[in-house]
Amino acid sequence: MTPNMTQPQTLDPEGLAKEGFDRSGIAGTSKGLLRVLDTARKVSRSDSSVLITGESGTGKELIARAIHFNSSRRDGPMVVINCGAIPSELLESELFGHEKGAFTGAHRSRIGRFEIADRGTIFLDEIGDMSPELQVKLLRALQERRFERVGGTQTIEVDIRVISATNKDLENAIEKGDFREDLYYRLNVIPIHILPLRERREDILTLVDHFQGNLRSRLSNFQVKEFSSKAAQALVNYDWPGNIRELENMVERISVLVEKQRVEIKDLPGRITHTDSDQILPGVASVFDRGMGFNEAVEQYQRALIFHALNETGWVKARAAQLLKMNRTTLVEKIKKIDLEPEPEMPVF
Ligand SMILES: Nc1ncnc2c1ncn2[C@@H]1O[C@H](COP(=O)(O)OP(=O)(O)OP(=O)(O)O)[C@@H](O)[C@H]1O
Ligand SMILES: [Mg+2]
Repeated sequence: MTPNMTQPQTLDPEGLAKEGFDRSGIAGTSKGLLRVLDTARKVSRSDSSVLITGESGTGKELIARAIHFNSSRRDGPMVVINCGAIPSELLESELFGHEKGAFTGAHRSRIGRFEIADRGTIFLDEIGDMSPELQVKLLRALQERRFERVGGTQTIEVDIRVISATNKDLENAIEKGDFREDLYYRLNVIPIHILPLRERREDILTLVDHFQGNLRSRLSNFQVKEFSSKAAQALVNYDWPGNIRELENMVERISVLVEKQRVEIKDLPGRITHTDSDQILPGVASVFDRGMGFNEAVEQYQRALIFHALNETGWVKARAAQLLKMNRTTLVEKIKKIDLEPEPEMPVF
C-alpha cells in the first residue's frame, strides 16, 4: 500500500511524549490542538521561521515558548517583543539597538532585542501592527541575519530563530497594502493556526481541571471544585470570545467567590448562563458537535425561552406566563425544575 502523503499522521499525546516533546503546560486533547502540538514538535527540531495565528487568548505565546524550550536553543534566551505595544519610532531601536547620540535622548548606546536573542529565539508578537518602514528594515535583517544599530555603522550578525504571532488576518492586510508580502513569506515558512476554543469544545473541561490543578499547586488551602452537570454543560456551550485567557480567569474567580465545593449553574457568571442569547443557544446543526442529545437540547431551548420571558417581564411570573401562553402554575413548576434564578450577583468579568 502506498502511504497517504496528503494526510500526514498527527501524533496523539502518548506519541508526543514518546518523541520527547514536552508540552510545557499546554493542556487539551482536541484534534485541533494535537495537530498544533505535532507541528510544534516538528518545527522545534528545525530553525525555520514560524508564524502563529489565532484569536486573542488562544495560546500563541505558550506555543512559541514550547517550540523554544523543545529546540536545541533551549539554553539560549527567548526574547519577546510586542510590536503593537511599542510606538513605532521606538521599536526600531528596541529591535536593533542604538548608538550614543543616534537621536535626542540617546545618551548612551544600547543593544537591541535581536542582539539579546543571539543563540536563542526572538518572538515578534503582534507583528501585524508593525509600521511599513520598519517592515522593510526587519525584512532585511531577517534575510541577511545582519543589521546595524540605529545611528551605527558597524554590521552586527546574530544567530536567531524567529517566531512571530498575530491575531490579524495578514493576507487581508497585504491586499490592503498594510503588510509587505515579501516579509509575510519570510515569516510564514511554517504556519501554525490555533483554533478558537469554541471550535474545540472538547478542551474546555480539560482546561478547567488543568487550571484548578495549577491553583492547587499554587495555594495550599485551595479546594478543587466540582461542577454540576448543568454547570459543566453551560461551560461547554459558551462561546468563550476571550478564549483560554477568559476561561482561566473564570476558574480563578469561581475558586475565590464560590465557597461551596460544588459549583451550580447559578454560581456561574451571567454571560455564561445567559441562555436568552442567540449566540449561546446552539443551532440545530451544532447540537451534536456539542455532545448534546435530544433531551438536553430541548431542555436548553425551554430554559432559554423561559429565561427570556422572565427578563422581558421583570420576573413577574404571571406576565411571563401570559407571554409564553402558558398556565402560571405550570411556569412556576418549570422554573423550579430547571433551577432558574435572576442574574446572580456575581461581578461581570
Ligand atoms: N492549551 C493551554 N493549556 C493551558 N493554558 C493555556 C493554553 N492555551 C492558553 N493558555 C493560557 O491562556 C492564557 C493566554 O495564552 P497566551 O498569552 O499564550 O495567548 P495569546 O494567543 O498569546 O493571546 P494574545 O493574542 O491576547 O496575546 C495564558 O495564561 C496561557 O498560559
Ligand atoms: Mg500573546
